[in-house]
Amino acid sequence: MSRKPDKPKPPPQHKRWEGKEKPDWLSRALARAGVFPQKEAEDAIRAGRVSINGRVAKMALTPVPPGATVKVDGLVVSLEAPPTRVLAFHKPAGLLSSTERQHRTGTVFEALLPQLPPELAGYTWHAVGRLDVDSTGLLLFTNDDKLVAHATSPDAHLPKRYVATVFSTASDERVEPLRRGMTLDDGPARPAKVNVRDEHTVEVTLTEGRHHQVKRMLGAVGLPVRALHREAVGSVDLEGIPEGTFRLLTDDEVREGLRYEGRTPFGP
Ligand code: URA
Repeated sequence: MSRKPDKPKPPPQHKRWEGKEKPDWLSRALARAGVFPQKEAEDAIRAGRVSINGRVAKMALTPVPPGATVKVDGLVVSLEAPPTRVLAFHKPAGLLSSTERQHRTGTVFEALLPQLPPELAGYTWHAVGRLDVDSTGLLLFTNDDKLVAHATSPDAHLPKRYVATVFSTASDERVEPLRRGMTLDDGPARPAKVNVRDEHTVEVTLTEGRHHQVKRMLGAVGLPVRALHREAVGSVDLEGIPEGTFRLLTDDEVREGLRYEGRTPFGP
């Protein structure tokens, strides 16, 4: 049996664009630039409202060549990456940190997005890490996905300060294993900074963020958590942010408080 010669394979994307500027796909480019949130960008493209270099593009995945002229409803839009923006949201209990609601349980996005003023509403917002549905406190949101990677990476050593209300009686002796570094069922946990504020209130500062980590660490030393609140991430805290509301961080707070050199105006 004769065998057909193998068809030459196209080079993988990363090889083809090595050393050159990579094209972004249309819906993502529009969302990154803050022209529309991703879902609305997809709808606008499907509706034929968007053109690239004079041709209507009907597919969200159409590549946008560097330097292309993109128009929405006939008006030129800039696809420059917008400056890094970060929101500090005071999460109430009872909301999921995901984008999908579950039955009657709403999400932090449903609570936050309707509050945004027009100049912030066009961006695609990402939650920076998660808080459990019953946890309260500081949850950051950003339009810069690199900041999400930075702030949630254990390599950044960005401290996250929690206050747990515990059922049993806390003491320095009891929390000592958290300070020394304990082994959880998914591996060793870094030593935590722990301050016993009173017999039912324990402050725990972590530089990593694994699933249910504070509850699991305290649970392992016989201090089941009744309520958990995140007070701070880096040196950003909730001062002046009532529960359920948010505040836009300044560029200095992002740079110094979160140790992140963002995109323009203060970064590349
Ligand atoms: N650790 C937890 O156990 N829960 C949270 O929500 C955050 C950290």
